[in-house]
Amino acid sequence: MLPNNSCKVYLSGAMQLTCAYQVKSVISRQNKRVLKMMSEISSAVKNAIENFIVPKDVGFGTLISPVMIEANFKDNQWSDLQILPYGDITIPPTAKVFHYAQEIFEGLKAYKSPNGEALLFRPEQNAKRFNYSAKRMAMPETPEEMFLTACKTITMLSKRFIPEASGSSLYIRPFMFATEATLGIKPSSEFKFMVLASPSGSYFKAGGLNVFIERSAIRACPGGVGTAKTGGNYAASLLSSTKAIDHGCQQTLWLDAINHQKIEEMSGMNFMCIKNNKIITPELTDTILSGITRASVIELAKTEGYEVIERTIEIDELIDGVKSGEITEAFACGTAAIITPIEKFIEENGISYELPKLDTPISLKLRSHLLDIQEGRKEGPAGWSQIVD
Ligand SMILES: Cc1ncc(COP(=O)(O)O)c(C=O)c1O
Repeated sequence: MLPNNSCKVYLSGAMQLTCAYQVKSVISRQNKRVLKMMSEISSAVKNAIENFIVPKDVGFGTLISPVMIEANFKDNQWSDLQILPYGDITIPPTAKVFHYAQEIFEGLKAYKSPNGEALLFRPEQNAKRFNYSAKRMAMPETPEEMFLTACKTITMLSKRFIPEASGSSLYIRPFMFATEATLGIKPSSEFKFMVLASPSGSYFKAGGLNVFIERSAIRACPGGVGTAKTGGNYAASLLSSTKAIDHGCQQTLWLDAINHQKIEEMSGMNFMCIKNNKIITPELTDTILSGITRASVIELAKTEGYEVIERTIEIDELIDGVKSGEITEAFACGTAAIITPIEKFIEENGISYELPKLDTPISLKLRSHLLDIQEGRKEGPAGWSQIVD
């Protein structure tokens, strides 16, 4: 049984490591633990890592690192973490996740520094959001220590596969799903937690985004699960994404569920725009995912002297602002997107609103600053970029 403030790690059933959780010293001790684990991994995992070949063009989220980490929740307690070679898992067809979508996930990145170190960006924020999502979806929380140890271990095991080009990274995917094999509609009593990693290039191809204005479907409604990172929100966005693609767009811009007026966010990233040199972003509500990149961009922009305003932005204000030239930039921000400028917004009837092409856009300055911190070229606020070496 794992008390909330400690975790054990099993190395393919071979050795255990137990650690007490203390906030201040957790990073270096976690790194030591990860290093110890690295020296004692099973030969199956070792072989999988040694034989793994990284192609030149890795894409995003398609190439999967040859290792995975898992733990199981049963009888009200988490098992120890296990490192396994990446492969299929066996789950009964009655597992509740297949029927009632009790599932949550996270996405974070490890970057390669100029010195060849692996750098994680604010991983404890993902651990916190994972537990927030777990609570909302009636799932057990994972001790922060367990979540972070799993992310750091997979980072170390996959370090050789982290692409070096700026904007590339190891995309890390922790997730948890209901495994109880019964069909009754009630919270599962059993869950599986897993972490995968994917050596990845840029999420978007070079150039600005085309964004589809979704005026009929909605992503999230008040009192719903829009603030949780749960698969159903993404399933709900897929039909609109096919409409977006038909209109030459890469993302959907979601409006509020009640009046279809207030801008909320995009399907996998938050929204910001620049009006009269001020950065404006929708204030967080119970229908918007609280992005770690969003929070980081707000903090960085303020330190760079920009005024940042979190408030309601209606779609009419956006369109009028783009037409009048008051809104000079708009951009997506998220772990996958980093900061990606928007080129134009497109309506279902084909009408589009194009942003001007600027010589020195603020969004790209912010992107460089953020990436410099994430990729270890510049020092950021304490604890943002964490070496896993
Ligand atoms: C719906 C949604 N909004 C916003 C974000 C941006 O969040 P973050 O910056 O933490 O990646 C994401 C990505 O996780 C997302 O899926």
